[in-house]
Amino acid sequence: EQIEKGGYEHFMLKEIFEQPKSIQDTLRGRLLVNEGIIKMAGIWDHLDRINKAERIIIIACGTSWHAGLIGEYLIEEFARIPVEVEYASEFRYRNPIITEKDIVVAISQSGETADSMAAIKLAKEKGAFIYGICNVVDSSIARFSDAGSYTHAGPEIGVASTKAFTAQLTILSLIALKLGKHNGNLSNAEFMRLITELDNIPKKVEEVLKSTHDYVKEIAHDFVNSTNFLYLGRGFNFPAALEGALKLKEISYIHAEGYPAAEMKHGPIALIDENMPIVIIAPKKGHYDKIVSNVQEIKARKGKVIAVVNYGDEQVASMADYVIEIPETSECFSPIVASIPLQLLAYYIAVYRGANVDQPRNLAKSVTVE
Ligand code: G6P
Repeated sequence: EQIEKGGYEHFMLKEIFEQPKSIQDTLRGRLLVNEGIIKMAGIWDHLDRINKAERIIIIACGTSWHAGLIGEYLIEEFARIPVEVEYASEFRYRNPIITEKDIVVAISQSGETADSMAAIKLAKEKGAFIYGICNVVDSSIARFSDAGSYTHAGPEIGVASTKAFTAQLTILSLIALKLGKHNGNLSNAEFMRLITELDNIPKKVEEVLKSTHDYVKEIAHDFVNSTNFLYLGRGFNFPAALEGALKLKEISYIHAEGYPAAEMKHGPIALIDENMPIVIIAPKKGHYDKIVSNVQEIKARKGKVIAVVNYGDEQVASMADYVIEIPETSECFSPIVASIPLQLLAYYIAVYRGANVDQPRNLAKSVTVE
């Protein structure tokens, strides 16, 4: 096992550090920047069917569901196809409206999650076209799907998903951009700008791992005894906040909630005092001014702010208690980059609390029963 961990203390840390490679592996052979194309057989072979879709329904559980939410933002933004994101467990039990014009996208790292499998069976019976996004090759969901794309994250051992999540975001970005280009919603120039940026993401992730690791480890020390955490983000980074909170809950057993930053005033603000740590994802692009006022509101109530901002940020950085700097990227790809320090934060808090990071209590890597 020590050899498999490649010198890292836990699989989770190894997998966090593998992300430049796993994202690159997921892009390889698909993103051809020099030729200005995205090659994806799963989409290409069924393009007519997919383009006729009146609606895309994304079905998943856990971390994969968070990836699905970001997928909704990506696909609606670039392909302009309406998207709904459903928890597989809710979808399957509520007599959902599904027609032959729907595309159901199942996202699953393991490809074996029982609720997700049951949900796509139901959707297929009703005539929907099933597109699977799985990490495990030849898994049940992958086999059952009409078409699909594999994430090439490699085996993920840590129960808390890290590299599979960013690989899912990578695939969803490729799909959204390919559809957007094909159906004419994205101009050639815009498409080229975005794929060039997507091509840079593995490098940026590498950079973030190097530049934030030691500092995030230090921050983690200060929060070992916290009992609650709030994670806030807007737009594309709202689901990234949900995922940040989930990582912390899963492995450190600290109660954490993710929220869209603007919703803070409808509830969570009541919880904010000097004992409440708030992780806020605030890259320059994406409602930055609004986030600035959210941070002001938090500081007025003495909340402890851990801000994830872009290099050289001044406004949020001047108010935050801890400032984690990440490189700038397009708003749509920023969850990939911003997730890295949040994974590290959850990891180190859990390690300092003496938790079993790779095998958290009560959780399974793949939930194959209801
Ligand atoms: C379990 C795992 C999570 C995972 C979820 C969905 O709860 O602990 O990490 O996100 O299942 O799994 P899937 O394999 O379908 O992505």
